[in-house]
Parts: sequence; structure tokens; C-alpha cells
Amino acid sequence: MITISTPGKLMLLGEHAVVYGYPCIVTTVDKYLTVKVRKISEEQDVILTPGVSDDKFVREAVVVFRNKFSIKQPIHLETKSELGNYGLGSSAAVTVAILKTLAKLFNVSLDKRELFNLSYEVVKKVQRLGSGFDLAVCIWGGTIYFDGKSKKVEKLTDEKLPIVVSFSGSKANTVEMVNKVKRLKDKNSKLVEDIFKSIASLVEKGKKAIFDKDWVTLGKLMTKNHLLLKKLRVSTDKLDRLVSAVCKAGAFGAKLSGAGGGDCIIALVSSEKKKQVELTIEKAGGEII
Ligand code: PMV
Repeated sequence: MITISTPGKLMLLGEHAVVYGYPCIVTTVDKYLTVKVRKISEEQDVILTPGVSDDKFVREAVVVFRNKFSIKQPIHLETKSELGNYGLGSSAAVTVAILKTLAKLFNVSLDKRELFNLSYEVVKKVQRLGSGFDLAVCIWGGTIYFDGKSKKVEKLTDEKLPIVVSFSGSKANTVEMVNKVKRLKDKNSKLVEDIFKSIASLVEKGKKAIFDKDWVTLGKLMTKNHLLLKKLRVSTDKLDRLVSAVCKAGAFGAKLSGAGGGDCIIALVSSEKKKQVELTIEKAGGEII
């Protein structure tokens, strides 16, 4: 039996722009998705996927692996997730975890880049779009700078970041939101390109702030990023309310995280303000994760 866990993720800076080749900064969370797999003598695979809302990624990952390495041996595969349904990247985590467990089970050696390429093949087959940022952070871990064009990864830190996460109460649909931005870009390409460039500049500054552990600056960059995402029309009233409430309560800064239209906000907070920020989130109807 092979068991492997991969972490969930949160986008710190750069969502949407990264789909168009700009960079982003993404971090892992200390919650995991676990895959257990073993060979079986039955004729067909047994695949159990509790905690995974969309099992298309699971099935496609198995198919891609089998085709790539010409493996027919039936398997028993089971998932277990701590990631919930909050947009913490369970599809990416399960894709990476399955490919990793299968590689180990069948003695196939895959380095990080090969694992990324194979995982990205799965995501493109299931979802057709996506930058791959979530796969990269599951594979490299910690906090990374990810280039949307070259798909290159630069590790920024493995240290914990002082983040509070709140679910807004509604689920985001990534594909829908990416298509929404595409429609806006088709209609007004200059405006959207300018927003992407501004986001990319926040990402560059964010990279330096993380190296310097300058949370005041990083917080300001996050709030600016949120305002740009608002201009891309991917925020919601609830996300805006949560962001502004936590900033008033003393967070260094805050933003929606991910595609928008729901899911989570993240707030960067000092340990002194953490309690106050959490109380404010609860009062504003957010759920602390
Ligand atoms: O919805 P999430 O949390 O998977 O984030 C999507 C981030 C996008 O930049 C909008 C899409 C992508 O694949 O980069």
C-alpha cells in the first residue's frame, strides 16, 4: 500500500493574470489530501473518492498514468481530504497525489518537472483551461513564485505566513470566472491588459516583501490586488465586505483568493490583531477555516 498526502493552496497574489502568462505567488496550507493505493487481483479498479467533489480529475489521472506507462494492473485507490469544499485546491492536490502514488506503486521515477507536466496534462484534459499554479505549489511546497508563461517555479520560502482564511459562504466556479474575464478582455482588451500588468507589478513587489518578511508591504499589495480583481468584476459584495471589515479590524491587508465569485478571502495579520480580525470575520458572516 502506498500513501501520499499533498497540501491545499491559497493564491497570495496574481490570479487571473497568471492564466494569460503573467506571474503569481501561491502558498500551501497545512491541510492535506491523502491518496492510498494498492494493487489488487480483481479485474477492475476500485476507486473510492470521499471528500473529492469532482472525481473527473481522479479518473483522468489514472487514465493518463496508465497510458503514459502502459500499465494495466488493476488498483484499489481511496482518497481522504481535509480540504473541504472551500476552494483550497482539492482537484490539483488529488491529481498530484494520485500520480505520485501510482509512480511509487509501479516504480516509475518522476522528477518534479515531469510530475508537473503529467499533472498539467490531466487538468487540461478535464478542464481545458488553467495556469497550473495550483499543481506547481502542491509539488514544490511552501510559498512559490510561478511564471504563468514558462511554468517555471521559484521557491520563496518554506516558513509559515501569518494568514487568516475565511470562507465567504458560497462556492466559486473557476471555469465560469475565467470565462467571465475572457469575455471582458474580448470586449475591452486594453483595460484588462492594463489590469494584468498592474497585478504583475504587485507580484514582483510581493516577492521582495516575502523575502524581506515585510508583512506591512505585503498586506498593502494584497489589498491593491483585491481592488484590481474587483475591476475585473470577479469579486462579490460578500467578499468585498469581508475584505474591508478585516482591514478596518487591523489586518495588514486582505483579498479574495482564487477565481473569485465566492470561496475564500485571506487576510495577512499580526499575532496581536489576529483575535480581533477573527471576531470581525465572524460578525461579518464569514467562516474561519
Ligand atoms: O479557483 P481557484 O482557487 O482554482 O483559482 C483559480 C485561479 C485562476 O488564476 C483564476 C485560474 C488559474 O488556473 O490560474
